[in-house]
Amino acid sequence: MYSNLDKTKIGAGLSDLDELARQKTYIEEAKDLVAKIAEEKGSPLTCHVATFGCQMNARDSEKLLGILIEAGYQPVETEDADLVVYNTCTVRDNANQKVYGRLGVLNGKKKKNPLMKIALCGCMTQEPSAVEKIKTSYPFVDLIFGTHNIFTFAELLCKMLKADKRIESIWQDTTQIVEDLPIERKFKYKTGVNIMFGCNNFCSYCIVPYVRGRERSRAPEEIIEEIKKQVADGVIEVMLLGQNVNSYGKNLDNPISFAELLRRVEEIEGLQRIRFMTSHPKDLSDELIEVMKHSKKICRHLHLPLQSGSTRILKAMNRKYTKEQYLELALKIRREIPDIAITTDIIVGFPGETKEDIDETLDVIRKVKYDNAFTFQYSKRTGTPAAAMENQCSAEFVKEQFDRVLSEVQLNARNQVALWEGKIMDALVEEMNEHDSTLVTGRLSNNTIVHFPGDESLIGKIVPVRLCACKGFYYIGELV
Ligand code: SAH
Ligand code: SF4
Ligand code: F3S
Repeated sequence: MYSNLDKTKIGAGLSDLDELARQKTYIEEAKDLVAKIAEEKGSPLTCHVATFGCQMNARDSEKLLGILIEAGYQPVETEDADLVVYNTCTVRDNANQKVYGRLGVLNGKKKKNPLMKIALCGCMTQEPSAVEKIKTSYPFVDLIFGTHNIFTFAELLCKMLKADKRIESIWQDTTQIVEDLPIERKFKYKTGVNIMFGCNNFCSYCIVPYVRGRERSRAPEEIIEEIKKQVADGVIEVMLLGQNVNSYGKNLDNPISFAELLRRVEEIEGLQRIRFMTSHPKDLSDELIEVMKHSKKICRHLHLPLQSGSTRILKAMNRKYTKEQYLELALKIRREIPDIAITTDIIVGFPGETKEDIDETLDVIRKVKYDNAFTFQYSKRTGTPAAAMENQCSAEFVKEQFDRVLSEVQLNARNQVALWEGKIMDALVEEMNEHDSTLVTGRLSNNTIVHFPGDESLIGKIVPVRLCACKGFYYIGELV
């Protein structure tokens, strides 16, 4: 199904550095084009980038916004802008539906602003059926491009600004990694860093390997260099990003383990906190546990997606571990690093799943005592092996079982989070509280949120906070 993409290019044939230089010339061209249109308009052009989906997409959006700002666009908070970019997600059907719904609203805005352009990128655009739907039902979209050629955004932007027809550029895959283009970070003091792209795991329910392509790791030197630059620019917390960080580095010319990469990142002076996302249980090594245990900078949080607690379902999901192996791993981590928070992802309603399978999932939740868990109803993704399975669950069954899982998750998470009540812990202050301007919102090393009295001067600082009262999933605290 994925062989019929409109453009089956796998890269322009240039080296990564030559491609980088080429894109920089397009940024210069975009500056001229934007300045000219702004002059006609009589005010600067505005832009808005909306992100759907995961941290990988959030990081990509920072890259898109960096190029737009460099080109002369002014970012605005609302979608009343001269350019709106939707960076889409397709991991579950509701992610797609959200985009379709909002595109309808955008059309109304476009009718009122003749200058307005709409661009669509991200994982949805790597699905031929979604692109077909957009072209027929949402013909007012001006630019469609995919995940593999996101680094050609400046080039595509120029094409779009010069053309009076829709521009479309979607690659089937790529081997190129073009970094070092302008980036606009959402937070001054923290950021994501891509350490790898794509995924080779092909869990049978998941569309990510089809829309993000094969696994490619960045060279450790480049990652370290990027983080050093960010630290010099005020970053104190990084999140290393990949679909399966535990297999990082295995396919590099000079292979290196993820644990070794962490050791090297830890050495970066001025960097205070390190997070990473996501860990596949099948590849989590003892070396990683060892490095985490002795680290001063790696946060006390591990996201370890379970998906299902039933060995039978895990096999059908192609997850490559059993319930017992998962439990052994999670409990070993709890033993070795007692103050760690473990969070997870769970899918309810995979084809053929029974009440007994869900009982197994509940059993794992009780034993691991997750600090938090994202619970999803299984969503059928066309082209994945699970979509072709005959024994799909009924919506009624899924709803019922979902509620069982959710209440077990909530019960355990409440108890787990409350364990630290009364203790003093360091929090990185992220922002002013959204609802109460006398409070700031901080994040503990274990990823729990704490709200406490404070002002703007604290933002971006790590401060000790007493966790006075646990309110379920967050704390109310006070500065000490
Ligand atoms: N690479 C990460 C997950 C990325 S997708 C990992 O392997 O852990 C994030 C989560 O979305 C997954 O962990 C899974 O729980 C959920 N998910 C993926 N495909 C799904 C589907 N078809 N239906 C429901 N949930 C899904
Ligand atoms: Fe999807 Fe599995 Fe890859 Fe995660 S590891 S992105 S769930 S295929
Ligand atoms: Fe969604 Fe793509 Fe991330 S499908 S979850 S945005 S990798």
